Amino acid sequence: MLKGKKIILGITGGIAAYKSAELCRRLKKSGAEVQVIMTQSGMKFITPLTMECLSEKEVITEMFPERRMVGTRHISLAQWADLVLVAPATYNLIGKISCGIADDILTTVISSTKAPVFFAPAMNVNMYENPICQQNIEKLRKLGYRFIEPGVGDLACGDVGKGRMAEPEEILNEVIKLLDEKKDLTGKSILVTASRTEEPIDAVRFLSNRSTGRMGYAVAEEAFKRGAKVTLISGPSDLNCSSGINLVKVRTADEMYKAVKKHFAKSDALVMTAAVSDFAPEKLSSGKLKKQETELSLNLKQTPDILREMGKQKGKKVLVGFAVETKDEIQNAKSKLKEKNLDLIIVNNPNLKGAGFEVDTNIATLIDRKGKAERLPLMSKKELAEKIIDRMVKLLKR
Ligand code: CTP
Repeated sequence: MLKGKKIILGITGGIAAYKSAELCRRLKKSGAEVQVIMTQSGMKFITPLTMECLSEKEVITEMFPERRMVGTRHISLAQWADLVLVAPATYNLIGKISCGIADDILTTVISSTKAPVFFAPAMNVNMYENPICQQNIEKLRKLGYRFIEPGVGDLACGDVGKGRMAEPEEILNEVIKLLDEKKDLTGKSILVTASRTEEPIDAVRFLSNRSTGRMGYAVAEEAFKRGAKVTLISGPSDLNCSSGINLVKVRTADEMYKAVKKHFAKSDALVMTAAVSDFAPEKLSSGKLKKQETELSLNLKQTPDILREMGKQKGKKVLVGFAVETKDEIQNAKSKLKEKNLDLIIVNNPNLKGAGFEVDTNIATLIDRKGKAERLPLMSKKELAEKIIDRMVKLLKR
């Protein structure tokens, strides 16, 4: 499964280093070529000889080994690797990479590689939960570094909690998945909208809906992972996205419309997951509206139908829409697909358990231009995003 793959296995100083021997054996057994790099602390826990026997390669431990011309060895190693895997990755190693420190051969290789870097953290629960460590992990994640979560259980120090390095088998499975990832959107520009819009009534109130942005952010992340240049136009949301994604924050439907128009021409596809408010107050009251003796009526005007407008200038671009329907789902979605000139529409009924807003899952049906409907079972929004991007890749090839 890993035949021909070149993996650098970095081993830092933690007791979980004993598991790295088994991990190395499994990587080799799966066909990978493994180059082990050990830090000075790593060697206190497991010997280079053990790793050398298992990897069948000389273990690298020094930045400047004596009597050898190795001035740019870190660059050749960084270029050689298809993946840099650090297991165990200590608090210190993660902190150093997050701060841009390169003071030994392992950190120098990590800082100069273009290959994916994958960390398997292992440390005491208090160290792992330390906000500094969590912020470092978050920062690195956003920069595209990958992590495999440590497990919960008895730790070497006697504490119980999160901090045990993931088991070699789990790490191996993640490595296989990571190296198998498709890059089928390379060279494509994808525009995604997400979350809701807010239409102000006065200085403190607005009209909106319950959309949180989970679906749109998942679509943007999946497209980015598969090599696309992604612009994500997001209404208000608490979610974060990878820093490689061009995030454009908007609030109202008008702002979203302007942003979509601005980026549409350069895009190959538009995925409109945003729950755009269909109506906005006709006029915005200055200050805060005071309570009144009589009832208050709000005059509402229609907001632009962004997707419909983009459908009019579709050309060869792929347009994907979403539909939230509580009855006659398929029929209504088919009409929307036609009216808005879409290639694909994803319809869901938020009244079903596990579907709709504020949950990590969805139950959706995908309908194409020919009217063919594929009903999908309950799945995570991430999985649904994968399915949508799979369809998009096919549509872009037409
Ligand atoms: N949409 C849009 N602009 C709007 C309203 C909706 O671009 N002003 C997009 C949504 O992002 C979605 C699709 O149109 O991809 C369908 O949205 P939905 O709310 O289901 O349908 P509407 O067209 O608003 O119709 P209705 O609310 O009457 O069902």
